[in-house]
Amino acid sequence: MPRIRTRHITVCAVLLLWIYFFLPRDEAIPFISSYGYGTPRRGTDALARYMNDPTNMPDIVARKSSFDWSSVNFTYPPPLTPKLPASVTKRPRIQHRFKPDARDVAEIQSQRRREVKRVFGRAWVSYKRQAWKKDALKPISGNYVDQFSGWAATLVDSLDTLWMMGLRDEFYEAVEAVATIDFGQSTAATVNTFETCIRYLGGLIAAYDLSGHEVLKMKAIEVGDLLYAGFNTENGMPVDFILFETAKKGSGLRVESQVVSASPGTITLEFTRLSQITGDDKYYAAVSGVMDVFHEGQNKTKLPGMWPMYVSMHDQDVVTGNQFTIGGNADSLYEYLPKAHALLGSADASSAKYEVMARTFMDAAIKNLFFRPMIPGDEDILISGNCDVLADGPRLDPESEHLSCFIGGLYALGGRLFNSDEYLDVGAKLARGCAYAYHSFPTGVMPERYNLALCPGSDHHAFCPWNDSSFAAEALARPEHKAHLPKGFTTAKDPRYILRPEAIESVFILWRITGDPWWRETAWEMFEAVVLATETEYANAAVLDVTVLGAKKEDYMESFWLAETLKYFYLCFADTDLISLDDFVLNTEAHPFRLPKTKSKW
Ligand SMILES: *[C@@H]1O[C@H](CO)[C@@H](O)[C@H](O)[C@H]1NC(C)=O
Ligand SMILES: *[C@@H]1O[C@H](CO)[C@@H](O)[C@H](O)[C@H]1NC(C)=O
Ligand SMILES: *[C@@H]1O[C@H](CO)[C@@H](O)[C@H](O)[C@H]1NC(C)=O
Repeated sequence: MPRIRTRHITVCAVLLLWIYFFLPRDEAIPFISSYGYGTPRRGTDALARYMNDPTNMPDIVARKSSFDWSSVNFTYPPPLTPKLPASVTKRPRIQHRFKPDARDVAEIQSQRRREVKRVFGRAWVSYKRQAWKKDALKPISGNYVDQFSGWAATLVDSLDTLWMMGLRDEFYEAVEAVATIDFGQSTAATVNTFETCIRYLGGLIAAYDLSGHEVLKMKAIEVGDLLYAGFNTENGMPVDFILFETAKKGSGLRVESQVVSASPGTITLEFTRLSQITGDDKYYAAVSGVMDVFHEGQNKTKLPGMWPMYVSMHDQDVVTGNQFTIGGNADSLYEYLPKAHALLGSADASSAKYEVMARTFMDAAIKNLFFRPMIPGDEDILISGNCDVLADGPRLDPESEHLSCFIGGLYALGGRLFNSDEYLDVGAKLARGCAYAYHSFPTGVMPERYNLALCPGSDHHAFCPWNDSSFAAEALARPEHKAHLPKGFTTAKDPRYILRPEAIESVFILWRITGDPWWRETAWEMFEAVVLATETEYANAAVLDVTVLGAKKEDYMESFWLAETLKYFYLCFADTDLISLDDFVLNTEAHPFRLPKTKSKW
């Protein structure tokens, strides 16, 4: 072989090696984009990749909505106190102190990130082509649906995921679309307070907190003022559904006589952060009035420490009902208590109030809701059940659901915030319980709602060995029991998986808090199983039955697939400084809000 060729090959090999080691490998997915901002430059400091560079921020101007929600003349103006407390500078450390991964381990994580990003990218490109500025893409037919007022729910919900994945062109293209959203018009006559708060307001605040782009702040204020108009009621409690045109007139709205407790209980983080970034206390003051009602009633309920699933904000009655759960309908009421404490800091009485409410419910749930199921192995897991309080006292029903799976991560967070090893330990067992449920089924994915067998005896945290005949007896007592279910599961009452995030949410938090690589490996197993079960031509769809292989899918993809599920998967394999839990607290739609006065550079 002639010398010159050899040298040529050597040069090529060196060049290829250089490319292999020094080019940003995460950014390998080709996206169609109209901006020239590209992916963030790779600096010497790893964090620089995520840093907001003001000279690199496109000049996008927001178009004002057709109605100015700040001009509503309230018949019942909400109180303007309490004022936002001054934020603290010292906080308990939340995340594990991570050391850099060894090169081979880092390479595996990088491949995993690329794979998550590939799945996200397919769905995003389909959303752009088939459903741009609509609320949701239908992932089988390629149609779209507007179920959240038609303000581009999927787009707003995905903004911060785009940012975290380093997709800056896509991010700013979406911000340009956000600039044209008209919060003065709605496709439906009533606006759902809860969904609008967690998806739109939460999504805009987080995207602003990450990028600092003013368009996002302005649109967050518009939607914040729209939600604030829902507090224009006789007793200052928010309505669950805002009658859109009535609210504009300012003559007052009527509070519903019964709502699920999560609805009024899931405004605190968004309104507190909105007050923090605008300097306007009115949002914080309004939501404080709601949380005072919950504080007042906490120890007076049938299960002291917890609130019933249904409450009446019209009567300010949060004590009467007898059904208790941390699952659907109640979940984020509980979730926001430790998180509000984290967002406010601990120096002030109002923040201390959130800590007391948080600790009080956490102790009550450990005693009354969590159980160690009877399963064939000896895994030390806990499952969150439901509790009904009847004449003969509290009765634990060993029924759980995917929505409850956030609770493991929340206890782990509480363990760090309140310096409690017990909460952290319980949190790890609860998160392992959901991971156990995932890998018990042939698809590797857990069903939406199911029952597990309860151990005999009154100590629901105690281990009991597997017993065929007592399992058979429990299963027989359940009309929904099917013979093909894995041992231990007496039902899969709702066998679907609808792309929900809660299990991976807890796995992510446990990974960041403990640093135990088991969590990251578990995350990867879950990711592979979920993608295999849900992938469609356009994106990913809900599966009708995870208890069997090859079940049909439903033409349905909630915006939380991109906003939460894929974000949590991505963060499990990302640099542990990306959205550090010491710098951010995440709302119930996985939107990170920056903790005031934290020193993070990006
Ligand atoms: C509120 O009242 C002011 C002064 O009367 C008026 O200019 C404004 O248009 C009113 N706002 C709305 C939304 O009707
Ligand atoms: C409720 O009970 C807990 C202790 O179980 C206590 O710390 C808390 O202050 C009580 N809350 C109220 C509002 O009295
Ligand atoms: C299994 O449970 C049954 C009651 O359902 C009990 O009679 C039996 O002794 C148990 N077997 C073992 C090995 O504990």
